Amino acid sequence: MTFYITTPIYYVNDVPHLGHAYTTICADAFARFHRMRGEATRMLTGTDEHGQKVEEAAQKAGVSPRQHVDEVAPRFAHTWRRLGIAADDFIRTTEARHGKVVGALWRRIVDHGDLYLASYQGWYCVGCEGFYTESTLTKDGDTWLCPTHKRPVAWVDKERTWFFRMSKYQQPLLDYIEAHPEFIQPEAYRNEVLAFIKTGLRDLSVSRTSFSWGIPIPDPDPEGHQHVMYVWMDALTNYISALADPDAADPFASSLMTLFWPHAVHLIGKDILRFHAVYWPCFLLSAGLPLPKTVLSHGWWTVRGEKISKSMPATRIDPIQLARALGTPGGAGDDGRVDGGAATSSADSPSLPGSGVDAMRYYLLREVPLGNDGDFTFESMFARYNADLANDLGNLVNRATTLLEGQPARVRPELCGEPRTAQLSRVAAEAVADTEQAFTAFAPHRALEAIWRLVREGNRYVDACEPWKLKKAGKADELAHVLGTLHAALTLIAALIYPVLPHSSATIRAALGADDAQGVPAWPSAAFSQAEVAAHKSAPLFPRLDAAAQEAIVAALVPPAARAAAPGDAAEAAAQAAQAVPAAQAPPAPAAPARVTAPSQPLPPIEFADFGKVELRVGQVKAAVAVPKAKKLLQLSVDLGEPAPRTIVAGIAEAFAPEALVGKKVIVVANLAPATIRGIRSEGMILAAGEDSILGLSGVDADVPPGTRVR
Ligand code: MSP
Repeated sequence: MTFYITTPIYYVNDVPHLGHAYTTICADAFARFHRMRGEATRMLTGTDEHGQKVEEAAQKAGVSPRQHVDEVAPRFAHTWRRLGIAADDFIRTTEARHGKVVGALWRRIVDHGDLYLASYQGWYCVGCEGFYTESTLTKDGDTWLCPTHKRPVAWVDKERTWFFRMSKYQQPLLDYIEAHPEFIQPEAYRNEVLAFIKTGLRDLSVSRTSFSWGIPIPDPDPEGHQHVMYVWMDALTNYISALADPDAADPFASSLMTLFWPHAVHLIGKDILRFHAVYWPCFLLSAGLPLPKTVLSHGWWTVRGEKISKSMPATRIDPIQLARALGTPGGAGDDGRVDGGAATSSADSPSLPGSGVDAMRYYLLREVPLGNDGDFTFESMFARYNADLANDLGNLVNRATTLLEGQPARVRPELCGEPRTAQLSRVAAEAVADTEQAFTAFAPHRALEAIWRLVREGNRYVDACEPWKLKKAGKADELAHVLGTLHAALTLIAALIYPVLPHSSATIRAALGADDAQGVPAWPSAAFSQAEVAAHKSAPLFPRLDAAAQEAIVAALVPPAARAAAPGDAAEAAAQAAQAVPAAQAPPAPAAPARVTAPSQPLPPIEFADFGKVELRVGQVKAAVAVPKAKKLLQLSVDLGEPAPRTIVAGIAEAFAPEALVGKKVIVVANLAPATIRGIRSEGMILAAGEDSILGLSGVDADVPPGTRVR
């Protein structure tokens, strides 16, 4: 078998955050799983360096686009290196190898007769670098907003561009998707793409003349104008330019291309599904090249419901800081390096605690099924850490290796039928099979669930066999068997966790006396090894995070500006920062669990009839502005399904930037008597959670029309 996994190439108008890290870590885990199975495996990541968005970012920074990309692109490579990502190649779209292959692809599409010159007129979102029709935009007053970025889209007025005949590929693409259920995964995204294609594919503008930061189209157009390529056509081609031979007569006949391309899995976020599952296959069909095997979409990581992104500064979590904060000095006893691919793992990278990197990887991959959205909270992260990593895995490793140190240990076949051993080996066999199935099906959370069933069974085995009593009673054979069985189970666990927890896997394998603990372990067979083994006590793995440690982690991650507000008590300041919201443009940082305000006194019971007097309705925020000279107040325009939107003044300015609210569905007390606040007549109230400070707004978990009654 062969496996080729790609991440999206990241825009260099931004620096890496936890959302980017999630994609890259998932891809890395899948690549590690396939390497373990001895498959020819390749992982690609890189940076997307052309286009209007990057040109504008450079202008803003007062440097040339070239200077800008050369400065930012290494930050991605550096982050992945420090996080131990084992990519085999890192491609930058400004590299010559890429430009040549993009030119070759363009020529194939020209030769196929799929390009024509026409005028483009329509809406464009620079954030997505994407074209939109009005039916797919949202509206705020007279302004059309991008549904992803919630920012105004730009009108492109009659620009002469090359058009790609995408409409021609509507039916072939539909047929392909229908015939290849593995092409778009998970299934919900496949259905979304099918529905989108069925609304009709329009020809696509694939060049621009209004700016110049892009790959030049090989020749000027017949009217003499020089175009640059549409940035998505340029960027998507990275997946093959990293395999092709740029200088060959046929770049696409290279040996890497032949070996890997048919097995390509493009891991992406749901915001870029259309580009990967519609545009890209149409380009490839036109160029006469095979389609990738799978486009695999994951959801978004949010902080209190807001997508982690550049435009929401307080949602940003630096993965390096998070890994560093989670790693306990002296904890895993490693230097944060494990083997890896050539492109992003390197001995010169400053070390991060491997246990911190692993804890972050575990949380991200265990907490949310791939494909779903996930909300980052400190509570859920600490809960996962303490329950699964400290109590279950850390405890088992600690107990088992302490017992094993210096003791003879060997599985004795004649004792394997004994019920406790039989039970453990049955659970172990199931764990190997289930983990393999789950990783193959791109479900890392299920793989981890399966492994943890074995981890917990291992702890039960120690409890039930009480090896310390066997030792005391001088039952040497039985003791050696129990210890041998534990060693065998832990060896399996150390191998199974490797894709997600590579550093901890190496630490455990070293303690168990493995020959090449730093190498890639082979995928384990389900049977327990019966060899005589020697092990030593492992350094503590994942020590429990008590309240003080948790507060220190929160303090390390919330913005320093907010921490400075209360210099005397960093933890308190951290907790306050997480609740109090530093800047007007930013929504709250992830909530600090340790010092959430004490709940207020419960109120006496009310009759149902009393509750029935409150008219709650779903409202959609259409516009939001700050109320002058009132630092807590926002003036909202809320659609309640009535002929005109209502004006509502809400005390939420410290928790939400006005633009973050536009489009949000909220719950409104619709029959609250109007009140005049700061001279503005407020016609309702929005429900929000929080005691002294607002921690979040109420909402609905389905797409319910404004005005719907809530009861
Ligand atoms: N440059 C394009 C991709 C071109 S691929 C041919 C791009 N870049 S991006 O930097 O904006 O995003 C890269 C990836 O990061 C996307 O898959 C996106 O979904 C992912 N994420 C960015 N923010 C994210 C979250 N908050 N959560 C999860 N993934 C997120 O799009």
